[in-house]
Amino acid sequence: MFFPQFRARRIRGNETFRRMVRETTLSVNDLVYPMFSAFGTGIRKEISSMPGIFQQSIEHIVAEAKEVHGLGIPAVILFGIPETKDAVGSDAYSDTGIIQETIRAIKREVPGLTVITDVCMCEYTDHGHCGIIKDGDVDNDATLELLAREALSHVKAGADMVAPSDMMDGRVAAIREAMDDNGFDAIPIMSYAVKYASGYYGPFREAAESTPQFGDRRSYQMDPANRLEALREAAADIEEGADIIMVKPGLAYLDILRDLRNEYNLPLAVYNVSGEYSMIKGAAANGWIDEERVVMETMIAFKRAGADIIITYHAKDVARWLKQQG
Ligand code: PBG
Ligand code: ZN
Repeated sequence: MFFPQFRARRIRGNETFRRMVRETTLSVNDLVYPMFSAFGTGIRKEISSMPGIFQQSIEHIVAEAKEVHGLGIPAVILFGIPETKDAVGSDAYSDTGIIQETIRAIKREVPGLTVITDVCMCEYTDHGHCGIIKDGDVDNDATLELLAREALSHVKAGADMVAPSDMMDGRVAAIREAMDDNGFDAIPIMSYAVKYASGYYGPFREAAESTPQFGDRRSYQMDPANRLEALREAAADIEEGADIIMVKPGLAYLDILRDLRNEYNLPLAVYNVSGEYSMIKGAAANGWIDEERVVMETMIAFKRAGADIIITYHAKDVARWLKQQG
């Protein structure tokens, strides 16, 4: 059927028709809010490149966690800025580490909020890499043992889900085994299965103080030019026991998100990363774009591309805007 029998505008002509034929929806249930927990007290320091996002000590994290819960957002994902960093990232798997203390505080004060933890070494190592270094490069197999210890210490402290972001080969299996051996077989793993070596992480590294002190992450994070490799990475993590798989970053990788949606039937997450947030906030602050409209369009794009879960620094705003829309 062609024009003039067919007129696409007939079902676009009023809001009711648009509502009736809408293919994709966004809900507060889709959101995860990232938070940066800093060692100390009385700390609430805005990240200069991420307006509205703070490094905070535990009492402020707990206060914000209450707000997040009150907005109906189901979960937060935590990143830690420890008191001290060393070559082997000891704070990452210490039972009294920054994240372990933060988990306990949130679980005590806001028990209804789901706590996910980022499992990686880069925030805790003095060299800023995501694993331990041997001969100038990250040693994959030696790092696995530490990641497993880290994940285990998170769930012992009360984490509801762990999210390994290091990109070592075999880490999902190592973490799964460590949790199963210690009675945590019910705890799911959301793996950063497809994580690209991206310039969009720039502002996060200021927030988490995790910039590599030498070299870059290209020996473990993926080449942005590769698409088939994303399927291999996802297949490996699923095989090893991932319950949810993630694509990261988001906006420049919507094709990858759709590829995984078409290929696998596991829940799919996307990380709307720091640089994507900064670009929108920067343009909005200059009056160059309509922030609410652009953020909501971005969220629906993630859903349309196939995401079930969106990890985003915009989560609190999105929750408020969704509420206003009724
Ligand atoms: C740690 C980690 C990073 C992000 C999440 N976990 C940074 C990196 O790999 O350099 C990025 C998040 C963001 O940019 O918002 N491995
Ligand atoms: Zn890392």
